[in-house]
Amino acid sequence: MARIVDGRERAARVRMLVAERVARLRARTGVTPTLAVVLVGDDPASRVYVRTKTRMAAEVGIEGRLLELPADVAEAELRARIEALSEDEAVHGILVQLPLPAHIDPERVLFAIDPAKDVDGFHPLNVGRLWTARDPVSDDLLVPCTPRGCLTLIEDVLGREGIRGRRALVLGRSAIVGKPMAALLLARDATVTVAHSRTRDLAERCREAEILVVAVGRPRFVPGDWIREGAVVIDVGINRIEGPEGRPRLVGDVDFAAARARAMAITPVPGGVGPMTVAMLLHNTWIAARRQLEGDGAP
Ligand code: GUN
Repeated sequence: MARIVDGRERAARVRMLVAERVARLRARTGVTPTLAVVLVGDDPASRVYVRTKTRMAAEVGIEGRLLELPADVAEAELRARIEALSEDEAVHGILVQLPLPAHIDPERVLFAIDPAKDVDGFHPLNVGRLWTARDPVSDDLLVPCTPRGCLTLIEDVLGREGIRGRRALVLGRSAIVGKPMAALLLARDATVTVAHSRTRDLAERCREAEILVVAVGRPRFVPGDWIREGAVVIDVGINRIEGPEGRPRLVGDVDFAAARARAMAITPVPGGVGPMTVAMLLHNTWIAARRQLEGDGAP
């Protein structure tokens, strides 16, 4: 029976470390690190995420500023607002909550963020750094929050050295999770495969994986018999389904109960990867603020 990896407890420890670092940075510079969160439209899930992010920021001493724009905002207007935040010296981190409404091109919007303030790590400059850095998990780079959180959990289970040479399968190839996750595991010397909706023999590929990260956004997509005995399973999915008596319930992309019987360690949903994402966002905001306030001025 797998050990359950407690993301809530781990995220609380990350936030405690961030709070100490933020306090020291403020003591040295007199400046409060500030995170601007941009929310377009009124998607209920996005609204919950954004509120969690600004509340958690306040708890670690980061000032959160919420910029809310209507769903029908013109792309040019959104970009102008982001450019203004990029130029505002009092703002150190900028996050644009995704998904954006269909009439807005997310790539053009993300380009408008100053790469030095890109706490999501989605700007092409930061994506390039992630793939080329010798150690992308240093305290200098802005790496996407969810995969960074996943890597921390995997390292807790296996140790940094324990990842070396292992067969890792990343299921899902999004720019937010799958691709950066592959880069991080590769940087830790895992043997990485990225699988997706067009992959043949998906069950077989999963059964080979000693480390399995699943980010497909489909409830219980991975059944228990796809799990290798003794695997480390990281479930990034957060899916709302109808539970007993019609009550909404959150489940992951993996059939948790069945997978738990075979895995060595597994993250629950909720309480696994989710809290880590927010903690890493705060950590990235500290990195961005420190670099802007005390760094060499490079983005
Ligand atoms: N929507 C879902 N995940 C994310 C994330 O990590 N960052 C942003 N900005 N939006 C998201």
